[in-house]
Amino acid sequence: MSVSLTIDAIDDADVEPVVALWQRCGLTRPWNDPHADIALARRRDNSTVLIGRDGGTIVATAMVGHDGHRGWVYYVAVDPDGRKRGYGRVIMAAAEDWLRQAGILKLQLLVRRENAQANAFYQSLGFEESTSVMFQKWLDGRASTT
Ligand SMILES: CC(C)(COP(=O)(O)OP(=O)(O)OC[C@H]1O[C@@H](n2cnc3c(N)ncnc32)[C@H](O)[C@@H]1OP(=O)(O)O)[C@@H](O)C(=O)NCCC(=O)NCCS
Repeated sequence: MSVSLTIDAIDDADVEPVVALWQRCGLTRPWNDPHADIALARRRDNSTVLIGRDGGTIVATAMVGHDGHRGWVYYVAVDPDGRKRGYGRVIMAAAEDWLRQAGILKLQLLVRRENAQANAFYQSLGFEESTSVMFQKWLDGRASTT
């Protein structure tokens, strides 16, 4: 199956449709303001939100960035009406290319264990489960979230 998307970095006019897409995909969380997350990802050149369009319509996104050593993706989303057509594979390939161009050699990502479809998706794309344990701490003093 071969699909092609037009890939661009997010622009001002894309913000509301992208937030709406993330909401439709169940990716927003009470403790993450998606508008603030997008603004932060756009603030410096080590991160962005990539958008995939099919015929002008936004169908896929991936927030991609690096910390100077490893690359990370968040908000990987494909419109529920467009799934299982290869859009997810294409937007992830774009994120990988973006990181390679930044000189980053390894991509890491977090998936909730109960998200079976995402676990299967990343395994199909050649990702393997890490043996490392992730530790986390909020830096604004709030109590822990899951
Ligand atoms: C996960 C998601 C991005 C996949 O997007 P998609 O466009 O349907 O994926 P693709 O069509 O590109 O599929 C790529 C591969 O993943 C596999 N895959 C995708 N969804 C799958 C599912 N639900 N179950 C099993 N395998 C799946 C496909 O079979 C395909 O494998 P193949 O090429 O070896 O046949 C999409 O389901 C989504 O947006 N989910 C909700 C948001 C989410 O959970 N994001 C991840 C947060 S960590």
